[in-house]
Amino acid sequence: MSNKNEHVMQALSTVIEPELHKDIVSLNMVKDLTVDGDTAEFTIVLTTPACPLKDVFIERCNDALIGKVDGIQNVKIKWDAQVPTDNRIHGRLDVPMNSIIAVSSGKGGVGKSTVATNLAVSLADAGAKVGLIDADILNPNIPQMFGLGAGRPKVINNKMQPLEVYGVKLISTGFLSSPDKPMIMRGPMLHGAIRQFFTDVEWGRLDYMIVDLPPGTGDAPLSLAQSFPLTGSIIVTQPQGVAISDAIRAAAMFDQLKVPVLGVVENMAGDFFGSGGGEKLAQERDIPFLGRVPLAANVREGGDYGRPVSIHSADTESGQAFRTLAETVAARISVVMLQSSDVIPIDIIG
Ligand SMILES: Nc1ncnc2c1ncn2[C@@H]1O[C@H](COP(=O)(O)OP(=O)(O)O)[C@@H](O)[C@H]1O
Ligand SMILES: [Mg+2]
Repeated sequence: MSNKNEHVMQALSTVIEPELHKDIVSLNMVKDLTVDGDTAEFTIVLTTPACPLKDVFIERCNDALIGKVDGIQNVKIKWDAQVPTDNRIHGRLDVPMNSIIAVSSGKGGVGKSTVATNLAVSLADAGAKVGLIDADILNPNIPQMFGLGAGRPKVINNKMQPLEVYGVKLISTGFLSSPDKPMIMRGPMLHGAIRQFFTDVEWGRLDYMIVDLPPGTGDAPLSLAQSFPLTGSIIVTQPQGVAISDAIRAAAMFDQLKVPVLGVVENMAGDFFGSGGGEKLAQERDIPFLGRVPLAANVREGGDYGRPVSIHSADTESGQAFRTLAETVAARISVVMLQSSDVIPIDIIG
């Protein structure tokens, strides 16, 4: 490395990653540095393509370099992303998923499937490889929210092929049954179905596998957590008291199952259900608050007609709320993963 490059690297090693609180050089986030005249150009490898903090990186790198190092006057940053890998998942599944995230709630109808859908499409839109398992086996809503009807996924070499919409790979019992011929299953069959969605589907490599759970603390979350290592769970709640009590139960269940709670999402905030209940719960329980989504007609319509607001109405208040939520969740996943000793950080994958 030339002298100039070394000086730039030294200066960049004072730039602190805002979430991980370590410098970007020892985190191995700086790649392909070139210095040409007064311009330093390099790539920052983020831990998620949905990183909300690019502006902070730009500002901090400019501050560290411009006028400070060997006459550097321009800083050009290119972006790349490498989602860290939850190492516990490897070896359990043929094709690795870097992370598995469960979307859960205490009460039904609070917006789990809506949150899971908008989270998945927003992450995919940011450039991540995303899968979504509809683990609400008996009441599968994911196909409708993605604009799909029944239609069997193809089977090739004994593996089901997921359907792909908005860049998200999907599997659901909704593809295998119709509302007038519902699936009727006992607990052990549910357990088998959820496991098969992981093992018998051709997912390919995924950054994020999102699992939309049925409400409550029943069989499904238990089966899931016992079958596969979960990187974290998201608790969705409405703002009102009854929903909050049930959300507390869901959070306590994940604590017992030793699954990190990534945080609480308050959905349907506004005049009708009130506002602030989810945030208060998060504060009281010392759980991160991930964000608030307003009660809005376009969210419901988006769900009914398979047009997620975070894509189709990205500039409305609700669309924006879901996009910001996705960035916050992605950043939280990175932090939780890099705090865990089971995770392969970006530097080893290279
Ligand atoms: N923020 C919101 N504003 C308006 N309607 C919403 C919102 N979130 C969800 N909905 C609607 O509420 C209903 C229940 O949401 P859903 O995601 O199916 O809940 P769950 O999966 O928790 O049972 C759906 O019709 C959905 O479109
Ligand atoms: Mg649902």
